[in-house]
Amino acid sequence: MNNSKEFSQGEIYEPSEETRRHAWVNNERIYEMAQDYLTLWDEVAKSDIEWFEPYEDVLDDSNAPFYRWYVGGKINITHNCLDRHIESKGDKTAIIWQGEPENEKERITYHELYRRVCRFANALRTLGVKEQDVVTIYMGMVPELLIAMLACARIGAIHNVVFGGFSSTALRDRINDANAKVVVTMDGYYRRGKVIETKRIVDKALEDCNVESVVVLERIGNDVSMVDGRDIWWHDLQKVPDKCECKALDSEHPLFILYTSGTTGKPKGVLHVHGGYNVGTHITTKWVFDLKDRDIFWCTADIGWITGHSYVVYGPLSNGATILIYEGAPDYPQPDRWWSIIEQYGVTVFYTAPTAIRYFMKLGEEWLEKHDLSSLRLLGTVGETIDPEAWKWYYKNVGNEHCPVIDTWWQTETGMVVIAPLPGVTKLKPGSVTLPFPGILVDIRDEKGNPADSGELVITNPWPAMFRNLWGEPERFAKQYWRSNDSGELIYYTGDGARKDGDGYYWIIGRIDEVLKVSGHRLGSAEIEGALISHEAVSEAAVIGKPHEIKGQVPVAFVVLKTGYEPSVELEKDLKTHVRNEIGAIAVPEEIYFVEQLPKTRSGKIVRRILLAIEKGEEIGDITTLEDITVVEKIKDVKGAK
Ligand code: WT7
Repeated sequence: MNNSKEFSQGEIYEPSEETRRHAWVNNERIYEMAQDYLTLWDEVAKSDIEWFEPYEDVLDDSNAPFYRWYVGGKINITHNCLDRHIESKGDKTAIIWQGEPENEKERITYHELYRRVCRFANALRTLGVKEQDVVTIYMGMVPELLIAMLACARIGAIHNVVFGGFSSTALRDRINDANAKVVVTMDGYYRRGKVIETKRIVDKALEDCNVESVVVLERIGNDVSMVDGRDIWWHDLQKVPDKCECKALDSEHPLFILYTSGTTGKPKGVLHVHGGYNVGTHITTKWVFDLKDRDIFWCTADIGWITGHSYVVYGPLSNGATILIYEGAPDYPQPDRWWSIIEQYGVTVFYTAPTAIRYFMKLGEEWLEKHDLSSLRLLGTVGETIDPEAWKWYYKNVGNEHCPVIDTWWQTETGMVVIAPLPGVTKLKPGSVTLPFPGILVDIRDEKGNPADSGELVITNPWPAMFRNLWGEPERFAKQYWRSNDSGELIYYTGDGARKDGDGYYWIIGRIDEVLKVSGHRLGSAEIEGALISHEAVSEAAVIGKPHEIKGQVPVAFVVLKTGYEPSVELEKDLKTHVRNEIGAIAVPEEIYFVEQLPKTRSGKIVRRILLAIEKGEEIGDITTLEDITVVEKIKDVKGAK
């Protein structure tokens, strides 16, 4: 355990001797050596991952941006997450599960997890699930969610986990877009003492879908309706063998689709594959969190987001770690629930989001002081920029000034951490994500595409866990993210603004496109606008992300009504409910302004920048490109009147 203080030099925190000595990576030359990225990705794939058949080439870039990694190799990520651990650590705890009710908990060993995954894989087969079939998983945070994912992967099916907070409409759209054959769900789960009736949401979604079967886990025992010939209980599918051969799949075999928000109304189905994703999530888990065999790793993300896929499930299990998953709300029944879980289970590595840190900061230190958090040795953060104040609060109050705070930058598309410190070698600066992970070349480009110290964050080489495509939209994949440099090589544009300081450290400024981060959740302005416009009263809508002290951003909507409709408090409520039903609670605008007109350019493009300035009460800047400049004063009046 690392008990000595990280050495702080003004705003620079050096790794302590203790951290350095024990770290997987403690040679600074790793950064230089990794410039030869193909060698690095070849070495770690060989040293840390088991292959059924070796690959012939590390990378095939002949059809960029449709890159292929570990060409010709045969692998299955579940072999690396399960089978290979059975002999040496079959009795080690793989999953510690804590339900929201304090007395509901479970420990699952690697051996038991292996058996349960095999059983469910066989169950899926009896339902006719084959390689390449899509299985949508819509569940709360229970072990069976991981079991369902791993079971799909084991037989070469593709899982599509939909975040439990999404509405039935959002779920329906994803099931249809992915063309799912089977849905795996549950009767319900607990959140803040209430039962979320998951199956009921699924039933509503399925009114407009064509799936063959629905598997329902009994978690609560609440009333659910089962459709004959379609719905089947999880426990009724258990009379199958608990051995299921691990299918040897091509490195590029699809593993999962995960929908994420972009700049259009339609979410993108980000596609990841077995081989490269296994290598990338494995090695980042090991090096960034400096994960050791005795660690208890708690990543608080919901598995319905990429952080949960990569750092609750695949990365840690591939490393044979013990993970903790918690079903409920962070502050239920009391604001110290998370801290009591850390104390109770002796969590050593803790990975969460700035929005949670800001929330706990506001609640005050007394909730932490009640608990012994000395088991912790490393803290991580992800999802949005952490301001230095929150960073230091986290370092001091959660980490007791002896845990490095590891800020990790990445995206659904990157699959794995891209920029983050390595705890044994990288000096920390509060608020900076520090340096690119070895083997990934990151840079900044100005508007003309030239290297700059501030501009858009780009990645200049392919990396193993990168997404391979957008489900059903290869043109969108090829067009939206990639641009050629002068030598004709493709560069990945992240959509984030960033700057680089004199030490080469990166500082993330935030999205430069119309994508919001609400409590760390990614939402598109266009998506929320689409939901508003689908309401009968709305003719046009514009949504902006207003800065918020705890959530980072909250959506604020400007709505033009159709003739015949009048602004009213009821209509505002109705529109909020409508967005909740179309997308989910996270997308509901905090404020809706009814305006006569939106600020638009002569070519009809909505200028959201102006709306944001009005909302923040800031200087509006140049409005000469507007079709009608009087609109600005009119919107200000509407806001003023509220
Ligand atoms: C966007 C990706 C992959 C992790 C969860 C979010 C923002 C992510 C950081 C960070 C500043 C961050 C970026 C990025 N973001 N991590 N450490 N510092 N911003 O995945 O939902 O695909 O969102 O999250 O804006 O583009 P995601």
